[in-house]
Order: sequence, then structure tokens, then C-alpha cells
Amino acid sequence: MAHILVTGAAGFIGSHSTDQLLRAGHRVTGVDNFRTGHAANLTAARTSAAFALHELDLTTPGALAKLATQLRPDAILHLAALVSVPESMRQPDLNFSLNLQATHEVAEAARLAGVPRVVFASSAAVYGNHPHLPLREDAPTRPVSPYGAAKLAGEVLLLGHAAAFGFTVRCQRYYNVFGPRQDPASSYSGAISIFARSYREGKAVTVFGDGRQTRDFISVHDVARANVLATTRPGLTSGIANICTGRGTSLLDVLDVFARANPNVPHPQHAPARPGDVQHSIGAPDAAEKELGFVAEVSVAQGLRELIGR
Ligand SMILES: NC(=O)c1ccc[n+]([C@@H]2O[C@H](COP(=O)([O-])OP(=O)(O)OC[C@H]3O[C@@H](n4cnc5c(N)ncnc54)[C@H](O)[C@@H]3O)[C@@H](O)[C@H]2O)c1
Repeated sequence: MAHILVTGAAGFIGSHSTDQLLRAGHRVTGVDNFRTGHAANLTAARTSAAFALHELDLTTPGALAKLATQLRPDAILHLAALVSVPESMRQPDLNFSLNLQATHEVAEAARLAGVPRVVFASSAAVYGNHPHLPLREDAPTRPVSPYGAAKLAGEVLLLGHAAAFGFTVRCQRYYNVFGPRQDPASSYSGAISIFARSYREGKAVTVFGDGRQTRDFISVHDVARANVLATTRPGLTSGIANICTGRGTSLLDVLDVFARANPNVPHPQHAPARPGDVQHSIGAPDAAEKELGFVAEVSVAQGLRELIGR
């Protein structure tokens, strides 16, 4: 049994990762300030004696290091962040604080408390807009938003700390994660959750651009399993891996599934493409398979059926 400290535990990916870690018999200490997370996401986790939650803001200097020094966890799973690309463009200072300063606090907590492993929620946003797909981890990184830039800088910062101070860092470049508990208020990565809400409410969806843009949609259940592997699998070395399926699905294809399940909802409306959004994004999943033993198992169709409830 391992003890994992999960930052952003009350969030979408954090709560699913917490649930899977607990189900696998591990102990979890969650940390969150409830900026975008919800206590209700941890309803199942709270029934476990192996779970504890600390309300803490990661940007408070030294706060996480103090907690980690008391607890001495086997790994930190660092998910807490400002997760919206448009918000990072509106508020670059806040993006810097929540995505980079907070990540430095995690790196320092690992150094000061002697935590042997850190797993970092990075993003496909580090690549920017590339013509050659699928993207491998050695593709040039050219982020086109403050969010993508901070994720890339966070990887570099953690890997430098790890090399200097002798711990292991796994950077997980998630693609477009979807599934239950995703907050439709998060306006970038949550395209599917926004569609699901609109169809539930009987309202026409607004699609930015022509809808032909493709995304490598990955189920949150798969992402949580990749996090369990990266935090607990023995013998891992530092590195970067895409967490993706290797398959692209267009927004129009996703909308088609919702439209067929909800024939009375008006057709989608189109609005201009948003600055910072990439047209196509598909990852190569090979490194995660080789280094973590991770292969995505939930298809987009299965995941959408779960959301629609049929
Ligand atoms: N959802 C996606 O498609 C996606 C894709 C790529 C990367 N990611 C990354 O995965 C991670 C989790 O994303 P999510 O979709 O679960 O988002 P989320 O907003 O549901 O979760 C983030 C959590 O972090 C908490 N948090 C934020 N700032 C904090 C702070 N200063 N101190 C303590 N807690 C704080 C929030 O309250 C929230 O519970 C993020 O790092 C995000 O950038 C997500």
C-alpha cells in the first residue's frame, strides 16, 4: 500500500484518481482550495478510512512542504491548476501563480520532505498547433497560450528539481479528458461536458469554428488509471508521456451522438473559432504504453453512452 498526496483532489480528474487509488488499496491525502473543485466529487472517497482532505491553497509559500514533511507520502500527484485556456489569456498573472508558482511549491515540497516521486498533470497544450500528427513527446513544443506555456515550464521546473535532488518526475500530457463530474463551467477542455449540459437542458449547442476540428478525447477513467500507474508502479524513471488514445474524433461526430440521443433539441449554432484553440490534436500513445504499461481502454462511444446515461 502506498500513500499518495493528491493536489486538486476535489476536481474532475483529482476525484476520479482518488477513487481509483482508494479502490486499489492505497491511502490518499487530498489537498484542495475548492477554487473550481467540489466537495460532492469526494462523496465516495469520504466513506473510506484511508482518505483525508486538507483545505489548503498551494500558492501559500511553504504550506504544501509543511504538510508533506508531516505526512511523508510515497508520491505527490499534482493536478491542482487553473485549467482554462481562455482564462489564462484573460488573466496571465493568475495563470502564472496557479500553474507555475504552485508547481514550484510542489517541487520544493518534494525536495524538502524527501518525497520520492511527483506525477504532474501536463497537457497537450504544450505542443501548440502542429501539422504533423499524431504528436510524439519529442515533437517541438510551441505553446500558443499562457496556459500551455506554464504547463511546459512546469514540466521543465519539476524535471530540473528531480535531476538535482534525486526524485522521480512523471509528466503526463493529457489530451481532452471527458466523463462524469466534469464541470461545464470550465470552458476549454470541457467541450463534451458543455454539449452534454446543453442537450440535457434542450438548448442548441454553440460550436466555435466549423466543428471539423478533431480532438483526442480520453475518458477520465483511463486518465485516472494512468495516474494510479504513474504514482504507484515500482521502478519508474523520470520522463514525459502523452496520455491519449491515438485516435481523433471531430466535434461534429460527438454532436451527432448527442443529436441522435436527443432528436428534439435544436441544431447547433456556429460561432467564430476562438484564439488559442488548435484545429487538430492527436497524440501518439506509445511512450505511455512502454514506460507505464498504460493503454486507453474506454472508447469515445462508450464514454458518451455513460454521459448520456444509456
Ligand atoms: N480536463 C482536461 O481535459 C485536462 C487536459 C489536460 C490537462 N489537464 C490538467 O489536469 C489537471 C486537473 O484538471 P481538471 O480538469 O480535473 O480541473 P478541475 O478544475 O476540476 O480541478 C483542479 C482542482 O485544483 C483545485 N485548485 C486550483 N488551484 C488550487 C490551489 N491554488 N490550491 C489548491 N487547490 C487548487 C481546484 O479547486 C480543483 O479542485 C489540471 O492540472 C489540468 O491543467 C486537464
